[in-house]
Amino acid sequence: MNICITRAIPGVAAELLKNEGYAVNVNPHDRPLTKEELRRFVEGADAILSLLTDTMDGEVMDAAGPQLKIIANYAVGYDNIDTSAANKRGVAVTNTPDVLTESVAEHTFALMLTLSRRIIEADAFTRAGKYQGWEPMLFLGTGLKGKTLGIIGLGRIGFSVAKKAAKGMDMEILYTDTKRNEEFEREFGATFATQHELLKRADVVTLHVPLVPSTRHLIGKNELASMKRSALLINTARGPVIDEHALVDALRNGVIAGAALDVFEDEPHLAPGLAKLANVVLTPHIASATHETRNAMARMAAENIIEALAGKTPTNMIM
Ligand code: DGY
Repeated sequence: MNICITRAIPGVAAELLKNEGYAVNVNPHDRPLTKEELRRFVEGADAILSLLTDTMDGEVMDAAGPQLKIIANYAVGYDNIDTSAANKRGVAVTNTPDVLTESVAEHTFALMLTLSRRIIEADAFTRAGKYQGWEPMLFLGTGLKGKTLGIIGLGRIGFSVAKKAAKGMDMEILYTDTKRNEEFEREFGATFATQHELLKRADVVTLHVPLVPSTRHLIGKNELASMKRSALLINTARGPVIDEHALVDALRNGVIAGAALDVFEDEPHLAPGLAKLANVVLTPHIASATHETRNAMARMAAENIIEALAGKTPTNMIM
């Protein structure tokens, strides 16, 4: 059996697959393959271990050939995969849930605190030798205790963020999701709200929805305008959930106070003007980037492939 890994990931994946006696091909370049390279690379593959930077459409699946059984995505999000094309071709698609929940939730807090306590500006100031001694008004930030956190999307990651915010930081929780979770509300004193209500009331809004047609530009000009002028917006989900051009305008014009983004609408490009703003914190899609999580993701993706090639339903089958 031939397995293609579209870019080097922690070695445990190739190790597990080789132990099964499979031939494992890893993209030798330290970059994503171009569309053409990807098509050639996957020719004859029985399984593809893909990354979120690979567009896995019907053409790529056809280039692999009719023996292709599984695409195991090295991510929990799978908006890079045309799942209906996979379905038509009888190709299983899997993702890597659970193992990255805590690291993404932790990164959400890292961003929230970095933004609310102006860490980037203060760090630059200190490194530049501008610190002349303690000052009563130096870099005043915003405290989070008692503030309202609006969570859009109460999946695994949204839930973990809520738990940390309610139990660890004494924040009030508002949430919105396709369905209510009354047990969650009781446990964390959380309140279900419509998205409009949540945007109006929250001091910090954090996004934890998958990218699907209904969540593209979920936060645009009107939604930003409905938020408090003091509000902070955090995105560790997918870039296109926010209309990034509208966000730049809103940040520039004081419509909201700040934003911290780990994901961007057109990665790796940033909307014009975004990187020039002082009231933003930007990280390069690293919310799941801990040694522990990336190793666990590699293991999980490989195990899904092994299950599929053994004729079983892979544990993390999404379709
Ligand atoms: C995911 O898994 O979807 C993250 O964005 C990257 O790990």
